[in-house]
Amino acid sequence: MTKTDDARPAVTADGTPIELADIQGDILRAYGNAYDCTTYVWIGLTGGPQAGRDLVARLAEEVTSAAPWGGGKPTHHVNVAVTADGLRALGVRPHVIDSFSHEFRQGMKDRAERLGDVGRNDPEHWTTCFTDGSAHLLVTVNALTPKRLDEALARLRSVITETHGHTIVDEQAAKMLPGSREHFGYADGFAQPAIEGVSEEKTRGGGVPQSSGRWRPLALGEFILGYPDEDTRDDRERRLPSAPDAPLGRNGTYMVWRRLEQDVARFRRTVSAAAERYECGDEAKLRAKIVGRWDDGAPLSHYPDAPPEDTFDGRIPGANDFRFLDDDVLGAKCPIGAHVRRTNPRDALGWDGALSFRHRIIRRGMPYGPELPKRATQDDGQERGLVFACFNASISRQFEAIQVQWVTDGNVFGLGHDSDFLMGGEPGSGRSMVIQGECPFYLAPQDPFVSTRGGAYLFVPGLDALRALGVGHVS
Ligand code: HEM
Repeated sequence: MTKTDDARPAVTADGTPIELADIQGDILRAYGNAYDCTTYVWIGLTGGPQAGRDLVARLAEEVTSAAPWGGGKPTHHVNVAVTADGLRALGVRPHVIDSFSHEFRQGMKDRAERLGDVGRNDPEHWTTCFTDGSAHLLVTVNALTPKRLDEALARLRSVITETHGHTIVDEQAAKMLPGSREHFGYADGFAQPAIEGVSEEKTRGGGVPQSSGRWRPLALGEFILGYPDEDTRDDRERRLPSAPDAPLGRNGTYMVWRRLEQDVARFRRTVSAAAERYECGDEAKLRAKIVGRWDDGAPLSHYPDAPPEDTFDGRIPGANDFRFLDDDVLGAKCPIGAHVRRTNPRDALGWDGALSFRHRIIRRGMPYGPELPKRATQDDGQERGLVFACFNASISRQFEAIQVQWVTDGNVFGLGHDSDFLMGGEPGSGRSMVIQGECPFYLAPQDPFVSTRGGAYLFVPGLDALRALGVGHVS
């Protein structure tokens, strides 16, 4: 992860200044691993529209922007996002709400079937606030220490409930696991898109693969509203993704938030049983084949047979600089259905990445719940999983395309209806995974490893837009 502490002027490719001081923090550049104590506070605006606007105005004073910090690391950061129900609860007029994208207005629950949220993932199993329309605002607090987090939360709770009369409808604490791992035990969170004017050289491999062997970064408008995206910077006549007029449509973005419960014991049992039949019991390699990276993050494309001897550092230049068509068309190194190859196929679909580079997301998720003790293979009854959080300018073109076409279905990769093995499948669905090689290895039909427990589509306003929402000047 990169830090927001340098002072380089940020401009897009055509020289347009990037208004960092108006863009919320943790979108373009992560706060960094030091901020490993996080709580997501979901608010229902039960105090009424005026008290809702007052709360937004109050929160706007505290929000961290993307501007360089100066003066060292703040003890904590506050960021704010709003659902479509939240905009309605704030009294935003219908014609303004109609100018947001269709999928945002519809909301995650009403798009459940398309997202694969059926069966065990069905919204009927979600936390109620995500299905009854009462989740209006999301305040994310990232802190350096548990003490700082507790202090910030105590103040926040009092402002929300006592000062403004609203209700906290859900709170989700999250914490980075040692070694930046998620609960299945893989290092996570370092492959991110490279963005013009924002990303450093070390994010090579994060943008669009070029036939020259080089990469180019993506246009800012793929992630922040109000700037040219990959269509409009070449052809100004084309329309930007659905976004309201300024101030709302300037320097904001859309956020996807999903609570994904992980059945770690079942995942461990399944993989270790399968490994008994795989390359003389090489469980570490089988785990790597499922994700496309070894546990420490080293990509199979660079290290196909064994991980590097020294612990892999995902921050080194070129850590994400790999492709699939050069010498791995058939998936002998990184299987065609591996998680990273599905979620960012790079050049694997041909046409120099033209079929994949419009479907990129900035991921900022965090694990929640206690770690299952190492080597335990029976569930301990505690809930644990991943808060999956990502940012994109178009939820339907970016997040939903990955989730629907690449994670939940395998057709585009020539894998029939096999879904991403890491997520697990519905019992009886018959979905499996083929690990290509001299002699293909078949992972038997998936058990359910990951289950959706709630989620929402949100809008993350720029700071001016947040202040305008606070005083009701957004028509
Ligand atoms: C519990 C569920 C999930 C787990 C445990 C998980 C785990 C991982 C891991 C270990 C990596 C490799 C590390 C890295 O590249 O940073 C990764 C990469 C990634 N995941 Fe997931 N993931 C989950 C769900 C999802 C979902 C639902 C999506 C999107 C719909 C997604 C999208 C991505 C993307 C885009 C990458 C980066 C690929 C690249 O650029 O190379 N993940 N994930």
